[in-house]
Amino acid sequence: MSSPYNETVMEHFRHPRNVGKIESPDGKATEGSPACGDMVSVYISVDDETKTISDVKFESYGCASNIATGSIITELAKGKTLDEAKKITWKQASDALGGLPPIKAHCSVLAVEGLRAAIQNYEEKHGLIKEKKPTTPEVVQQRLRKVMDPLTGLGLVRAKLVQSVDVKDGVIHVVVDLPSSHQFASAIKGEILEKLETLWDVKEVVVDFVE
Ligand code: FES
Repeated sequence: MSSPYNETVMEHFRHPRNVGKIESPDGKATEGSPACGDMVSVYISVDDETKTISDVKFESYGCASNIATGSIITELAKGKTLDEAKKITWKQASDALGGLPPIKAHCSVLAVEGLRAAIQNYEEKHGLIKEKKPTTPEVVQQRLRKVMDPLTGLGLVRAKLVQSVDVKDGVIHVVVDLPSSHQFASAIKGEILEKLETLWDVKEVVVDFVE
């Protein structure tokens, strides 16, 4: 059977650039794709003075398109300012790869969202967010959409695993409808904390499991 991918995609898939982790990154995000349940983590090092991405790495738990797009966007982002890197679109990434099969668009969207979320994580940690909207339960739910349950490959919200969300006096309380002994409980908790702790008006995030 012939591959649905062109040579450039295959080359980036076989020899992805910038794969791995940055120890103590300045920004980091793990994003899940509600379309397929796959995940990507993006790590960035930022020169605080010039606000330039000095290093960027990614880990993909997705398909060949996702790996190839992760490879190309990290190449495109390196050396760019945060503002420039934020503007990289999935279309540019896919064009730089010489095109992806249309059914695979969400895979490049996932990689680009991962990069944007890592930049946002840096900006939130450094108080650089311009539009400071108050954190409401809706904002929290929105962020939880991108946290995946690795077992079902569904977002926590879609899998109906978010039992409740409360926001009061800067404290977010999330109850996850899983036992704390669930094999992925601590990974899921870690991702929830990562997504919520940097919100500008949040002092504490408490994650509980039902039993
Ligand atoms: Fe999930 Fe490509 S099918 S990232």
